[in-house]
Amino acid sequence: MKILVAGGAGFIGSHTSVELLAAGHDVVCIDNLSNSKLEVIDRIKEITSRDVKFYNVDICNKKELLDVFDIESKTKKFDSIIMFAGYKAVGESVLKPIEYYENNLESLINICIAMKMYSCNSIIFSSSATVYGDPKIIPVTEACEKGKISSPYGQTKSMIEQILEDFVNSDKNISACLLRYFNPIGAHESGLIGEDPNGIPNNLVPYIADVAMGKRDYLRVFGSDYNTKDGTGVRDYIHVVDLAKGHVAALKLYNKPGVHIYNLGTGEGYSVLEVVKMYEKVSGKSIPYKIVDRRPGDVAVLYCDPSKAKNELGWSAKLNLEDMCRDSYNYQLKGRMNG
Ligand code: NAD
Ligand code: UFG
Repeated sequence: MKILVAGGAGFIGSHTSVELLAAGHDVVCIDNLSNSKLEVIDRIKEITSRDVKFYNVDICNKKELLDVFDIESKTKKFDSIIMFAGYKAVGESVLKPIEYYENNLESLINICIAMKMYSCNSIIFSSSATVYGDPKIIPVTEACEKGKISSPYGQTKSMIEQILEDFVNSDKNISACLLRYFNPIGAHESGLIGEDPNGIPNNLVPYIADVAMGKRDYLRVFGSDYNTKDGTGVRDYIHVVDLAKGHVAALKLYNKPGVHIYNLGTGEGYSVLEVVKMYEKVSGKSIPYKIVDRRPGDVAVLYCDPSKAKNELGWSAKLNLEDMCRDSYNYQLKGRMNG
């Protein structure tokens, strides 16, 4: 199939492009490089020995986006679009809500307009576990109601899910797959692509990676008084390569009109301190930490029941926490582009 990967130079988009190419699909990437580097595209080519067409386009610019569809549809129209593009920093979204609503919603709406104009009927969207809020029942299933969302970033995910539902209801040909990611970490085993946050990392594993590399002195552990095995927050960490393969599996719904919702996680929860311990093991480095106050908006425990994706898509995560931490560390040693 011919797939448009929007946000294809980013962390999850680059790994998904690799898996799509490995599965024999043709990939066209669009990215405005607002949170990624052009070099990533060369690295995708290096890993796969395949060509990838790249457009440096801001998807909020409707004209430029439609130009890409215009050019590409002259050879073959897109069979599906995977929409990764958007801003994703939870804390930043509280400080800059309008920028988040503008970028995340406008880009998605432009993609929907282009789908209509160029008869592409399939979209896969990067949603997030954040739409569940603080669920009453763990592990969380897709049947759980959406919860109280604690950030503008999370609101954009929930709003986009709604927009896509309305889009599907208005057109009996459209298939929209909403993939709710849990906590993607790790990197490609080659060490050539991985997660490269600008500035101070917000997320746990990129922060630990900086401590392991001597860029930061210690990790701040946000709270040790949660009702969990060791008092620290528990999450469902998933290797980014497994997550990427989940998108390839979801493509089988490209010609099944309707809204399809899947949790993508491993179904296992690990505490902050368990992740620290595993990173120490794979890196051979000590990761000093200090317990500090809870981070506002954090929930104690969030992990999923991934059985719907297994039963319906034939997909399940294969890699474990050790693989995730090892590949993250390998990327720090070999591939990092952000200094
Ligand atoms: P990322 O920032 O690495 O990738 C997003 C890419 O989109 C970047 O390369 C960025 O330059 C590009 N982009 C942003 N706005 C754009 C625009 N207007 N036009 C063109 N390109 C644009 O993020 P990621 O971790 O790969 O996440 C991908 C998607 O998955 C995001 O939508 C994110 O919200 C979602 N998600 C991520 C996580 C996570 O923990 N990483 C969890 C849940 C959901
Ligand atoms: N944590 C620390 N110290 C840090 C960073 C994180 O102790 O420096 C803890 C958090 O308190 C939490 C766990 O590590 O218990 C994981 O935190 P992350 O920031 O890595 O991930 P979150 O689960 O908070 O956020 C992720 C995604 C968001 C998404 C959210 C949905 O990054 O995009 O899941 O629940 F919205």
